[in-house]
Amino acid sequence: MLTRDNSMYKKMIMTKLQGINEIPTMLTVATEIDRLTNDPNSSAEGVSNVIKNDPALTAKVLKIANSALFAGTQRIVSLNQAVARLGYGEIRRVTIAIAFLNSFKSLFVDYEKFWIHSITTAYIAQKLNELSKTNMPSDRLFTGALLHDIGILILDQYFTTIYKKIFDMSINKKYDLSIVEQKILGITHAEVGALLLKKWNVPDQITDIIYYHHQPQNSKIAQRDTKIVYLANFIANNRGYDNGTGTFHEQFYDDIWMELRLSVEQVPEIIESVQNDVEKAKQLLKLGGK
Ligand SMILES: [Fe+2]
Ligand SMILES: [Fe+2]
Repeated sequence: MLTRDNSMYKKMIMTKLQGINEIPTMLTVATEIDRLTNDPNSSAEGVSNVIKNDPALTAKVLKIANSALFAGTQRIVSLNQAVARLGYGEIRRVTIAIAFLNSFKSLFVDYEKFWIHSITTAYIAQKLNELSKTNMPSDRLFTGALLHDIGILILDQYFTTIYKKIFDMSINKKYDLSIVEQKILGITHAEVGALLLKKWNVPDQITDIIYYHHQPQNSKIAQRDTKIVYLANFIANNRGYDNGTGTFHEQFYDDIWMELRLSVEQVPEIIESVQNDVEKAKQLLKLGGK
């Protein structure tokens, strides 16, 4: 089965992606929040109104705002209060996290491990941007980093049998996952994730990060963010926050570290700084999941 012509699989996957028309509502809402919270002319009320469009999302945002993660002295009863208390940055992170947890599931991938990998990569990416001497506002960085491996869950869900073989082969033989995917399917998880999200109208600045996260030099429109996500993914994988596949033989591009004016010596500091966020991510999984 594994020796079949990969162009056939690629064709099947492309056809399947074309047919997945139903966009998870929460993902649409979270993408809109992402846009609004990056718009200097937006208001807290405008952001609340968009969240309100989705009652399930509203309930989860209120639950999280009142949880031990954010609890202040006063109980939050309205979305306006939640937006004011959490601020735009945190509201963006929380809504996209909830959307992720409610839009994608797994059949054989260890979901908790995958989730921790994804969100830790997103927090590391944010930290790298802060530490980089070329620091600049990167609106879409967190969302792109959180969703970078989403193609793995899509392949797990829609091509379970063949993809489980690919996954196991990568783990057992210590082959890089993308190389096995390319050889057998003719397409990688990076391309699958980006193509589906593009079809769902997720902005290009985000799908570009996803498409090129293993080959950041080829990124077209979000090259700096893509390079940061590549580094964040590299660090997460090497520091025990891998997605369950064990990303072996990921290429080490030292020119990217240099270009962003970051150094491997900063890794312990980076890992230290995201410890609280990883704990927060575990809580988010409990409170924000299905
Ligand atoms: Fe990946
Ligand atoms: Fe990854």
